[in-house]
Amino acid sequence: MWEGNEGVAISAAPLTLPELFCNKSLIKGLNALEIFRNFFYRTKGKIMQLHDKPKIWAAFAPFEPIRNYLDENADFDFNRSGDLADRQMIKDHLPGVQGLFVTLRDKIDAALITAAPDLKAIATMSVGFDHIDVEAATQRGIWVSNTPDVLTDATADLAWALLLATLRRIPEGDRLVRSGGYSGWRPDLLLGTELSGKTLGIWGAGRIGQAIARRALGFDLRIIYHSRVRKPEFERQMRARWVEWPELFRQSDFLFPAVSLNEETRDKIGPAEFHLMRRSAILVNIARGGLIQEEELIRILRLKLIAGAGLDVYVDTTGIHKKLGDLNHVVLTPHIGSATVETREKMAFMAAEDLISILKGQPPKYPVNEIQNSQWETDLERHRVRTA
Ligand code: DGY
Repeated sequence: MWEGNEGVAISAAPLTLPELFCNKSLIKGLNALEIFRNFFYRTKGKIMQLHDKPKIWAAFAPFEPIRNYLDENADFDFNRSGDLADRQMIKDHLPGVQGLFVTLRDKIDAALITAAPDLKAIATMSVGFDHIDVEAATQRGIWVSNTPDVLTDATADLAWALLLATLRRIPEGDRLVRSGGYSGWRPDLLLGTELSGKTLGIWGAGRIGQAIARRALGFDLRIIYHSRVRKPEFERQMRARWVEWPELFRQSDFLFPAVSLNEETRDKIGPAEFHLMRRSAILVNIARGGLIQEEELIRILRLKLIAGAGLDVYVDTTGIHKKLGDLNHVVLTPHIGSATVETREKMAFMAAEDLISILKGQPPKYPVNEIQNSQWETDLERHRVRTA
């Protein structure tokens, strides 16, 4: 069975019948079922190995090299619909699946986890894991892994692209030129805002927050940040200053939320925070739409109580609030923070490798939760006995 793969503890390696009967002490320790199972393994040979592999299902179509990797290491299948999976499709594929490969579009809640009796691992091809009920997974002894680090640079780059595009009105300029409205230089044409000498505010000093700050060094900006835990090394290297929550809003010319979405951070930027912001401020969100009260943001933008926004993420993860599209001083991108070929390939490989590690009985490299070994081994053993 699949637990016979390398790296997974199995209680007794398959033995031949003569080997078994020559070893009296071993016979003592083995019950009839184990003798039968050892014999069964040996005689089934290669044919059984086909079914020995863990069953993995991907809710999307991974790149071909990742498909090949998963094919080699697992009994692998994926959503072949040409579209992303909906909830029903995921549910229909869960029975018998030990490894589930998802994206941030796939909401894996407690009910789906309950509908997956054999599930041992969920790997998401994203750094964010707010779409997975990690607590429910942990209670069931299911590992959850994500893809940190590899998307840091791509995401920080996009944050800067959004800031520059908003400040210098690049989409407006592009529209003007394409529509035939450009007829030469004018002193008052599409005046934007200067970067140098301004204050950049970051909420969160994790990997992405720090990468955004690093990119600021060449622009001669002051850096302030707010996070639960102060980061002295970051402060030293970037000459960044930790400020209280209200000060982040009061002092920032450009404000970047760079934290994950959870119960503590959801809807955290609302009327009180907008009220503190400068009229000239620009808000850039490459993290999660749910961090910001979106209706309030739209109201504030309409009233021009802040100067603009660059947004890559929205409360609705499948589209945008229609009213945002009506605003000229807002630059909108379709959640493409990590969307470079290099980064997406790395993300997919990380997630696939973690799935295989977990299903071979090894802990993932990028765990989101902690599954106790004893619980894990008991589950493996239970699975082994059931499928033997
Ligand atoms: C993630 O992986 O969570 C990012 O939002 C992708 O852009």
